[in-house]
Amino acid sequence: EKQGFRHFMLKEIYEQPSVVRSCLETYVQANWHPQTNSDSSPIDLGLASELCDNVDYIQIVACGTSWNASMVGKYLLEQVAGIPTMVQYASEFRYSPSPMLANTLTIGVTQSGETADTLAALEMEKQRRMGLEFPYDARILGITNRPESTLAHMVDRIINTQAGIEIGVAATKSFTAQLMGFYFLALELAYRRRHLSLDKIEGLIKGLGQLPGQIELILEKQGTQIEELAHDFMETQDFIFLGRGINFPIALEGALKLKEISYIHAEGYPAGEMKHGPIALLDAKVPVVAIAMPGVVHDKVLSNAQEAKARDARLIGVTPIDDTEARSTFDDLLFVPHVEELLSPIIAVIPLQLLAYHIAARRGLDVDQPRNLAKSVTVE
Ligand code: F6R
Repeated sequence: EKQGFRHFMLKEIYEQPSVVRSCLETYVQANWHPQTNSDSSPIDLGLASELCDNVDYIQIVACGTSWNASMVGKYLLEQVAGIPTMVQYASEFRYSPSPMLANTLTIGVTQSGETADTLAALEMEKQRRMGLEFPYDARILGITNRPESTLAHMVDRIINTQAGIEIGVAATKSFTAQLMGFYFLALELAYRRRHLSLDKIEGLIKGLGQLPGQIELILEKQGTQIEELAHDFMETQDFIFLGRGINFPIALEGALKLKEISYIHAEGYPAGEMKHGPIALLDAKVPVVAIAMPGVVHDKVLSNAQEAKARDARLIGVTPIDDTEARSTFDDLLFVPHVEELLSPIIAVIPLQLLAYHIAARRGLDVDQPRNLAKSVTVE
């Protein structure tokens, strides 16, 4: 069943190009063109207008990796669709929900569709709006990989992320599929609200269409190199991951993947926050992984990385192959294709998944069934 891969997690990492392809085939209208099809949405998520028209505000509840995906989602919903968005840990929202606002879309994000805290947070939101009329009515959308799950039965509509069963406890392909769900949602809302020009929407869709090939390229070209790099971290006890903007949540996800399967202490930080505390942790024993993709924060990330270098930290950069400035900053490079900033999280997370996997596998750990963790957390 592992099809020649040593672990399910590795198999699932390598399934990502086909998962992204299947998301594109399911939700993008083929041959859509801004001039000829301007009166129909390029994305079809089957969302009723009662659910997603007149939305002034979005609140998202999730846990773990799904929370990290939601943080990328927030960036997209705000920057692409122009809708203020808040992301809450489901376990926090349950006991301190934010005040009820009008015209609010609530989104529950859960791979398994069975996470107790996420279901309870959504149920609470449903109950407190029960019987209230527009504009205070409950509008609840689920993003899940399991169309038959409890989540799917309790919400108005789901986006099925098409990732297929995920066996490795560490979420990989379900994470990239959730990100695809957020791209589609942000683009569909941007189209409906006329928030983005049709040409820009078309450009982003074309960029999404190139992702499967680009992910394949990373897997082909970087797999062995990252496996070799992993050898250097057999004794490492702490890792710091830095990112900014849309890639800050990818730093969190890189750290989460590493800690859950390799048991190495890892923290993700917005790069600009490093000097407000975590920089005190740095010395030659603490490697720093920085995500330096093209875009508004590129130079800032590089200068934050240099601050870490000045403390003797070994610097590992996730960066495009043509980025000469980044090449001279980092000690080790995890090369990725050059993509525009909005699309970069899906590209940047791939080498981080591989790094976490190879470190844990090299340490001889039970990658698919890490200690103390379960695939779905059905208790509070
Ligand atoms: C991380 C991981 C967990 C889950 C979390 C939420 O790799 O697997 O952090 O992401 O338990 O699970 P779902 O998405 O099923 O609600």
